[in-house]
Amino acid sequence: MRLVRPSIVWEKEHQQYVEEWDSSRMIPSSFYLTAYETYEDYLKGLRERESGQGKWVPSSNYFLVNDDDRVLAMVDIRHELTEHLLNIGGHVGYSVRPSERRKGYATKILSEALVKCKSLQISHVLVTCDEDNIGSAKTIMNNGGVEDKSYTDTDGTIKRRFWIDNE
Ligand SMILES: CC(C)(COP(=O)(O)OP(=O)(O)OC[C@H]1O[C@@H](n2cnc3c(N)ncnc32)[C@H](O)[C@@H]1OP(=O)(O)O)[C@@H](O)C(=O)NCCC(=O)NCCS
Repeated sequence: MRLVRPSIVWEKEHQQYVEEWDSSRMIPSSFYLTAYETYEDYLKGLRERESGQGKWVPSSNYFLVNDDDRVLAMVDIRHELTEHLLNIGGHVGYSVRPSERRKGYATKILSEALVKCKSLQISHVLVTCDEDNIGSAKTIMNNGGVEDKSYTDTDGTIKRRFWIDNE
């Protein structure tokens, strides 16, 4: 298993992941394809977003891929925290392909993301999840997350917030 950057090589796998996706809101949103006419357009938009243009902070995105080149999970690492990220989004957002859940891949992609965070000198990594997202909370705790105060969003959603010591 390895992390790879989104590139044209992964177009088909990425599209199949999106087709399998079971909710209207893509997580992480950086992997959302619907707004783009072609995969090349998506990759160009992603590069702009990753470089920190517009409302975005600099970020890095990866697929977790197995030895058969199947995309299992996706992760977006935000290099800095804005107020919104501090309260709601955190440094790291991830998802696992619906057909590949409950096999340890979220725990694995978060642990791999922490290695990337270390090389980015992010020594205290904030990871958040909705109050009712037990799978994500366990994923964070499996990676050493220590819970901080929760944040209540304007729509009443409660975000659990965890810090991972990554020194
Ligand atoms: C949440 C999510 C990332 C978990 O992925 P996963 O690959 O199934 O997680 P793991 O297999 O690593 O499981 C981690 C732990 O959570 C538990 N778990 C996973 N999904 C669960 C669920 N729906 N209900 C209860 N426990 C769950 C696992 O049993 C495991 O427990 P353990 O450590 O005690 O063995 C996945 O369901 C997903 O992509 N959801 C949609 C996107 C999302 O919510 N992303 C996170 C945003 S904060």
